Amino acid sequence: EIKKKFPKELIKWYLKNKRELPWRDTRDPYPIWLSEIILQQTRVQQGMPYYFSFLKAFPTVKHMAKASEKDILSLWQGLGYYSRARNLHKTALQVMSQFGGSFPGSYKELLDLKGVGPYTAAAIASFAYKEQVAVVDGNVYRVLSRVFGIYEDITQNSSKKTFAALAQQLIPQKDPDIYNQAIMEFGALHCTPAEPKCGDCCFAEICVAHLTGDQRVLPVKAKQ
Ligand code: ADE
Repeated sequence: EIKKKFPKELIKWYLKNKRELPWRDTRDPYPIWLSEIILQQTRVQQGMPYYFSFLKAFPTVKHMAKASEKDILSLWQGLGYYSRARNLHKTALQVMSQFGGSFPGSYKELLDLKGVGPYTAAAIASFAYKEQVAVVDGNVYRVLSRVFGIYEDITQNSSKKTFAALAQQLIPQKDPDIYNQAIMEFGALHCTPAEPKCGDCCFAEICVAHLTGDQRVLPVKAKQ
C-alpha cells in the first residue's frame, strides 16, 4: 500500500517543485553521462557552468575522444577529484573503440564502461532509455531510510543490497526516468540532511522518521 503510494506522491511532488536543469531536457546519453560524472562530487550550481563549457568544447563523445587528456583536465580545472576528468576521457575513448561511437543501450552494457558504476549506469539507462532501473545514491539512502524506517548502516555492503532491492521495488514501470529524477530532487531539496521540511511533507503521515523523530538518526552511518 505505502509502496504503491510512494512513487505516485513523489512524482506529484516533483512535478510541482522541480528545478529546470539542462540535462533533464535531453535523452541523449552523452550529455546525461557528462552531467552525472560532474554531479558525482559537485553541487548543481557549481557544476552547471562546467557542463555547458564541456558540451561547447566537445559537442559529441567523438569530439571528447579526439581531445587530449590535457585539454580535458584544463577544462575541469576547479572541480576537484581529477580522476573524474581522466575517466571521462578514457570512457569516451572506450565508447569509440568498443561501441562504435554510440553509448551502450542498456543498464547491463553501460556497466562495461570503465568509470561507470551502478549509479551512473542506472541514471543513463533510465533518463536516456526509460529503462526501469532505480538509481541508488546518498539522496536515495536518506529518503528511503527515513520514509520506510530502515536502520541499517549504509556503509555496510549488506545494507546497500537492502536499499537497492527496495529502490527497485518502488520504481514504476511507467515514467521510471521521472521517478529517478524525483527521488534525487526530493532528497536534494526537501528531505535534506540537516533541516528536512517535515512540516510540509506529502509523506508526513507515513514517514517513520517523522513519526518517531528520528530524522537526524536516519540514515544510519557508522562513525568512520
Ligand atoms: N545529482 C546527480 N544527478 C542529478 C540530476 N540528474 N539532477 C540533479 N541533481 C543530480
